[in-house]
Amino acid sequence: MTLGKSDLRSLLGAAEDPMLLVDRNWSIVEANDAAEELFGHELPGQPLVRALRNPDAIRALSSVLDRGGRAKAEITLSNPDPIPFRLRVASLSGVEAGEAAAVIVLRDISPWQAAQQMRSDFVANVSHELRSPLTTLAGLIETLRTTASDDPEAQARFLGIMSREAARMDRLIGDLLSLSRVEADERIRPTDPVDLIATIRNVLTIIAERAEASDRTLSFEPDLEACLVAGDSDQLTQVFQNLLENAVRYSRQGGSVHISIERRKPMPKFATEVWAISISDEGEGIAPEHIPRLTERFYRVDSGRSRQMGGTGLGLAIVKHIVNRHRGRLVITSRQGVGTTMTVLLPVLD
Ligand SMILES: Nc1ncnc2c1ncn2[C@@H]1O[C@H](COP(=O)(O)OP(=O)(O)OP(=O)(O)O)[C@@H](O)[C@H]1O
Ligand SMILES: [Mg+2]
Repeated sequence: MTLGKSDLRSLLGAAEDPMLLVDRNWSIVEANDAAEELFGHELPGQPLVRALRNPDAIRALSSVLDRGGRAKAEITLSNPDPIPFRLRVASLSGVEAGEAAAVIVLRDISPWQAAQQMRSDFVANVSHELRSPLTTLAGLIETLRTTASDDPEAQARFLGIMSREAARMDRLIGDLLSLSRVEADERIRPTDPVDLIATIRNVLTIIAERAEASDRTLSFEPDLEACLVAGDSDQLTQVFQNLLENAVRYSRQGGSVHISIERRKPMPKFATEVWAISISDEGEGIAPEHIPRLTERFYRVDSGRSRQMGGTGLGLAIVKHIVNRHRGRLVITSRQGVGTTMTVLLPVLD
């Protein structure tokens, strides 16, 4: 099979990764769109080293042009921010000037590196979150065995702390399991008709007692009879439970939490109309620099405070995954000193 020049161009054009063909004199013979995006336009005819000035890349190409075969290297290019690339070079048969003697393919490995980093951060975070209650438990067991062995009052107090810490570990593991379950079926869109009003009412009965005990008033007076979405009822319950728990937990004592639901016109990226459920609290609010990061796992504005209240920083990460699975969106708006509104947008099921 022989490939003409225009076939070659189509072949390169079909590749998403930057590709360059160079001849024996180190001149660029052909470049695809991705390469031009990376190195600038009008590459053919230019000396390769003008575009790709990296010593490891030059070494790899030099070995392929001298000895044939293949070579690879990991390089960082500034564009203008540094981007890590994996570079591969393979020899071609061209011998004369202007004939392709080697092909260079570059692959941006920053998404892979970011995923790698996220995975190791996640393991580090989980270990840290589990270790602190475990350290407390181990310390108190030792105290019960020794100094508190015949002090019933201290024993009762320590057992109380121990059961709280054990409950915290249990909650953390429960949250991790539900996060991994939600992630596992995020692509499978749920299909059951679920009424949001009934779901929210159900959540309100679950958390009413806690809200009352901590002196927050909850209000929800929908004008509508039923608001249907195609959903997973347990998961949607979890969404509203996490959001309402946050609203109660991070709002001002004596403040009120208001829940509203309305039907909105389709917005960009939505084909159908959406239900917009807003949960507004009168809390201290969230500084704007934190807002984009709130749905990251373990991200907390004030981790000491959240932890003290039993939080692990997974609540909003779970909410985000469930909302994504329902093809919806979570919108967070907040004004410091005034309060926070968390709005869930979900496609209407008619
Ligand atoms: N309504 C709110 N008002 C102010 N800050 C909030 C509000 N909701 C969330 N936050 C901030 O976002 C952080 C992340 O919330 P998230 O629900 O993910 O975790 P958490 O409440 O700390 O723990 P968890 O929900 O796992 O028990 C919280 O620690 C808090 O700092
Ligand atoms: Mg929470």
